[in-house]
Amino acid sequence: MGHFKKLSKHVAAKLGLYRDPKTTREELSFKYIRGNGLEIGALHSPLPVRAGVSVCYVDRVDREESIRKFPHLDAAEVVDPHIDDGFVLNSISDASQDFLIANHVLEHASNPLAVLKNWARVLKPKGVLFVSVPAADKCFDKGRPLTTLDHFVEDYNAGAAGNAKILSERNRPHYGEWLRISEPNIYADRKEKYVAPSPEDMERRIDFLLDRAEEIHFHTFSTESFRSLLSYFADGLDTAMNLARLEGAESKAAEVRRVYARDLKMSGCLECGGCEKTGKCVVKDDMQTVYPHFEAADVIILASPIFFYAVTAQVKAPIDRSQAMWCKRFLEKGPDERKQYDSGKGYLIAVGATKGKSLFDCVKLEAKYFYDALDMTYEGGLFYRDLEKRSDVENHPDKLQEAFELGMKAVKTANVE
Ligand SMILES: Cc1cc2nc3c(=O)[nH]c(=O)nc-3n(C[C@H](O)[C@H](O)[C@H](O)COP(=O)(O)O)c2cc1C
Repeated sequence: MGHFKKLSKHVAAKLGLYRDPKTTREELSFKYIRGNGLEIGALHSPLPVRAGVSVCYVDRVDREESIRKFPHLDAAEVVDPHIDDGFVLNSISDASQDFLIANHVLEHASNPLAVLKNWARVLKPKGVLFVSVPAADKCFDKGRPLTTLDHFVEDYNAGAAGNAKILSERNRPHYGEWLRISEPNIYADRKEKYVAPSPEDMERRIDFLLDRAEEIHFHTFSTESFRSLLSYFADGLDTAMNLARLEGAESKAAEVRRVYARDLKMSGCLECGGCEKTGKCVVKDDMQTVYPHFEAADVIILASPIFFYAVTAQVKAPIDRSQAMWCKRFLEKGPDERKQYDSGKGYLIAVGATKGKSLFDCVKLEAKYFYDALDMTYEGGLFYRDLEKRSDVENHPDKLQEAFELGMKAVKTANVE
């Protein structure tokens, strides 16, 4: 092995002692990548794909800026991207892509589970997520501690709670590690002399990087740790949403829009009366992006875990804000017309940890009156007790099948096939 280390990669490859990861990626690409999709951060080295595959490259900056930023790259090789934040993909519709490629991108994300969720959002059912990260012990991160799964989950939870300040502070130790370990390794690789900064200088540099939210390798991976991150993600980030994957509806070619209540930055209803004369809410926050979906949907499936015998606070906020739609219905329909619901059908999926007999009483009533406000009939749904851990539901293929069938039934009964 000592002797092998002295061989160049080129010679070692010829002797069959080393396999270039690019070759492996290319083989996997030819095997799995089909149709139309995205590649994030391809820069000058896009993944080779089979003939007939169409790739839209996504980057935060345009080609000219990339060429300016990385003068050492061969400009002719730099791709011409569609401009968007590749970690968020705001400009890309849900369930629109056959694949998403991101090689050596995820280690630059300070909240990888949130990024994986954004990437999965744009994939069609059975779409392919093609993601690779560098193994820490094989790159300039050698010597840094491996990021644990718990750490990724804590990042995700801090992000989901909308706590940008906590999330940013969680990056501080990563900047420290990067400056103390990765940067000297980079100098050593380039055979350049590295002068260690004083402790005060080090703190100043950490503050500087933190201030600018500079993109570094925030996290470190091994094959095993990456696998555990992906399998945690593939299990679904929560039970209720896992059941509400709506593949059944998609299998019927329905257009599905997912709204994640916890991602919305919004208040509850202020009871200001602003909607009483117009049926429109006057509070300008993320709920304004939800109303058009409520208006357009033929079917709504609400999914929530049971928190204290009710839906979660995050789910309750858009329910309360549907008061504006209750006003609209009241303004548009007379008392007799209001006896009938004309705008579609609503379902509820709820899961709780205990076996309580009345566990779902409150949420069933809540759903009934929520759909009443939306001029929709409440059609019942799925109610599962005794599910505590996120992965519990994976041990119940019957429940997942029922959820699949609910999606199909919802499309069928809505007559939107
Ligand atoms: C704040 C909080 C309150 C909860 N209240 C209840 C409850 O009243 N009854 C119950 O059966 N489970 C309760 N649970 C447990 C969750 O409903 C259960 O773990 C569920 O499976 C979580 O679903 P999720 O993975 O979609 O978040 C509570 C959990 C939390 C965190």
